[in-house]
Amino acid sequence: MKAILEAKYIDKHFRKPVDFHVLKDINFKVNQGEFVSVMGKSGCGKSTLLYILSTMDTDYEGELYLNDELLTGKHPDYLAYVRNKHIGFVFQFHYLLPEFTVLENIMLPARKLGEKSNEEIRTDALHKLEILQIAELAQKKASRISGGEKQRVAIARALINDPAIIMGDEPTGNLDSHNSENVLRIFRQLSDEQGLSLLIVTHDHDFAQSTDRIISMEDGRIISEGR
Ligand SMILES: Nc1ncnc2c1ncn2[C@@H]1O[C@H](COP(=O)(O)OP(=O)(O)O)[C@@H](O)[C@H]1O
Ligand SMILES: [Mg+2]
Repeated sequence: MKAILEAKYIDKHFRKPVDFHVLKDINFKVNQGEFVSVMGKSGCGKSTLLYILSTMDTDYEGELYLNDELLTGKHPDYLAYVRNKHIGFVFQFHYLLPEFTVLENIMLPARKLGEKSNEEIRTDALHKLEILQIAELAQKKASRISGGEKQRVAIARALINDPAIIMGDEPTGNLDSHNSENVLRIFRQLSDEQGLSLLIVTHDHDFAQSTDRIISMEDGRIISEGR
């Protein structure tokens, strides 16, 4: 089994307003094609951990590896590149640009990466829309589609650079059960059919039960890795 993501001895303190030990000795791996959920009470450190794992927060102790490459200590510009190329992120709120079309929103991270022509990126974006079964939305403005559709567009956008891993912070937290099931089905399919790794924070027990394993957190620690 190839490890895509590995956290080693990750510790973090918030120093203000008072010293707070928010993450304590976090160690785990996510393998290629694995669909992993993270559960734990509100305030236990899930979002803080995801910010570190997605390279957005560099203020921690320990080591973070992506595809066996140590990312800890790398230059912020390089981390921004790694994040754009290898990590797809899906939030509770979609953060689409409302005045841009669905297609333009999906193409954006690939344009930023700048490795392909506009035509290639367009073709890739249309393909992602097909995978998510929303091809008919391509030319609509992002402000004109439903909440469930927006989240699927956000997933398509997260996939545009063919990342090694998708990370999500309660991506179904704002969706009704029908749309949550759709997102779960799409994630399952990406893991099974494309070998994509996923690490998804959720409060939804049914959702978590459908993943390959559940990492449980309590008070800044991992208390069970689900294997
Ligand atoms: N910038 C910050 N400064 C100080 N404390 C913070 C900050 N951000 C979050 N916290 C605290 O860290 C803990 C973990 O927060 P968070 O990672 O958002 O939890 P979760 O996502 O599991 O609900 C909470 O007690 C929260 O109040
Ligand atoms: Mg959170």
